[in-house]
Amino acid sequence: MVDLSTTYLGVKLKNPLVVSASSISNHIDTVKAAENAGAAGLVIRSLFEEQIALEGHYLLERAEREAESLVEASNSYFPSVKHGGPREHLMWVEKTRQAVKMPIFASLNAVTPGAWVDYARQLTDTGVNGLEVNFYFVATDPARSGADIEKSLYEVVENVRAATKLPIAVKLSPYFTSIVNVVSELEKRGVNGVVLFNRFLQPDIDADTESVYSEMVLSTPAEMRAPLRWVAILHGRVGLDLCLNSGVHSGTDAIRALLAGANAVQMTATLLKNGIPYLSTMLINMQDWMTEHNYEKLSDFQGKLSQKHCDDPFAFERAQYVKLILRQGL
Ligand SMILES: Cc1cc2nc3c(=O)[nH]c(=O)nc-3n(C[C@H](O)[C@H](O)[C@H](O)COP(=O)(O)O)c2cc1C
Repeated sequence: MVDLSTTYLGVKLKNPLVVSASSISNHIDTVKAAENAGAAGLVIRSLFEEQIALEGHYLLERAEREAESLVEASNSYFPSVKHGGPREHLMWVEKTRQAVKMPIFASLNAVTPGAWVDYARQLTDTGVNGLEVNFYFVATDPARSGADIEKSLYEVVENVRAATKLPIAVKLSPYFTSIVNVVSELEKRGVNGVVLFNRFLQPDIDADTESVYSEMVLSTPAEMRAPLRWVAILHGRVGLDLCLNSGVHSGTDAIRALLAGANAVQMTATLLKNGIPYLSTMLINMQDWMTEHNYEKLSDFQGKLSQKHCDDPFAFERAQYVKLILRQGL
């Protein structure tokens, strides 16, 4: 029997398959189904900075209204929002944590340093095993440089690091000029792992109605190429854990991620498309591949095809593009 166990963010996982933040965590039944299918862990859908800001805004407005209408406003007039926004989220995280045995990770989605960081502390108190910080940002201001945006990312991360002792992973977008530099700066700030990559929902334009619309389009396996490249480049260059996300649709995809140097993979689309029990098929496929290739444990082949260890390191760089064009006459 092959050993699929791995370590991610200092947490021992029985295998590298983690369910990424998504609607799968919206119901205890589906979380349990993931555990029963063999998932090694699960990330709960994100708590968004905007949700927290909205609640803060609501509380302030309400307090101001009540202060105006009553001669003496005291703390007792503040509404107790037990089931609204972030509080409801915290309760949900706690409930999910208690419902299953597998490691559970919470997710905070934030782009500006701010008061919301207190929720990193509150999420810690729910008993989760780690915290994922999703830095989901679409830069539109011509006056803001990439360096400036990276500075915000580091401030967010420093604030979260100071607020919790939990292991932290940062879920990054692929749109940084120097991903390797950003990841090593995150490592210097005490981040334990990175999730590569966050998948942006791209808005589209309907030519008939001349309108902009957004819809949930699930990933395809081809989307795994970008994170695969960056995991392969990062492996051996940084010390933190690498979790590949986007486009992992099969057990073979997970094996490819491990060959590139990933410690774990996350996925959602394949489970929404094929059903949560499909995760067990992925695990069987991984075991079969390892048996066929005479590997007993993941470390026997993890990072074997990373840029540092593969036969053709230029395959991960521009040179390969040139070679392909010249060879195939494209
Ligand atoms: C329905 C749905 C909800 C999602 N919600 C979140 C979320 O709350 N936070 C987050 O960081 N990512 C969220 N994601 C993104 C996934 O975690 C994942 O990064 C993305 O789907 C790429 O992985 P995949 O190719 O395996 O689907 C969501 C994705 C889907 C499809």
